[in-house]
Amino acid sequence: MAPDLVPAHVGIIMDGNGRWARERNLPRTHGHGEGLKAAKRIVRAASDLGIRCLSLYAFSTENWKRATDEVSYLMDLIKTHLKQEFRFYRENGVRVVHSGNRSGLPADILAEIDETARETAGFTGLTVNLLVNYGGRDEIIRAANKASETGALTEKSLSAALDNPEFPELDLLIRTGREYRISNFLLWQSAYAELWFSDKYWPDWEASDLAEAVAGYQKRNRRFGSV
Ligand code: FPP
Repeated sequence: MAPDLVPAHVGIIMDGNGRWARERNLPRTHGHGEGLKAAKRIVRAASDLGIRCLSLYAFSTENWKRATDEVSYLMDLIKTHLKQEFRFYRENGVRVVHSGNRSGLPADILAEIDETARETAGFTGLTVNLLVNYGGRDEIIRAANKASETGALTEKSLSAALDNPEFPELDLLIRTGREYRISNFLLWQSAYAELWFSDKYWPDWEASDLAEAVAGYQKRNRRFGSV
């Protein structure tokens, strides 16, 4: 693998948890638990590959429409993970940041996200961007409102008002689970992202799947509108 062509920013729509569980006659929530284990495997794999930023779509602004039990389970899963896994982030030198609408999130989740972000702020390896209560349109509207307070709205001023403006644009957008949609994921940042779709359900994802996606990305000819 050519190290100089490693994508700086990879985003993943981690899809297929529910179907993974259903095929095993397990509750959907079990699929999310396995999905979290896959997320940890892929965080390690992304570090090993030298990826700088990894955005993980953990809960969208639309996911509130799911059954109350599933929503509570997901919120609890994220909260408990952040509470218990500081060691995992420290051992891998991973910094954690959050993207999403803070005002719609329960206070206990927000507190855990903020504490993890504070505690990992000095780590210099991979940065993991956890998308919780995140919608691409919502982020753009919030950024546009913020940017227009200080003057004319331009691409530069809007970019600077995004949730994590220091992040490079998305290089590689991966969606697992045999669905071929963007689903409101990092809409502004993915303007020139290369797309990679995987037939595997997210809980089945391994380090080799990420390596395959990155190798596929390295074969693309990115032109950014030029010839
Ligand atoms: C989509 O699968 C998955 C989600 C909505 C939740 C993803 C969340 C995790 C994997 C937990 C990650 C947490 C951290 C802290 C990284 P789906 O339920 O829509 O699957 P389906 O399409 O098969 O029903």
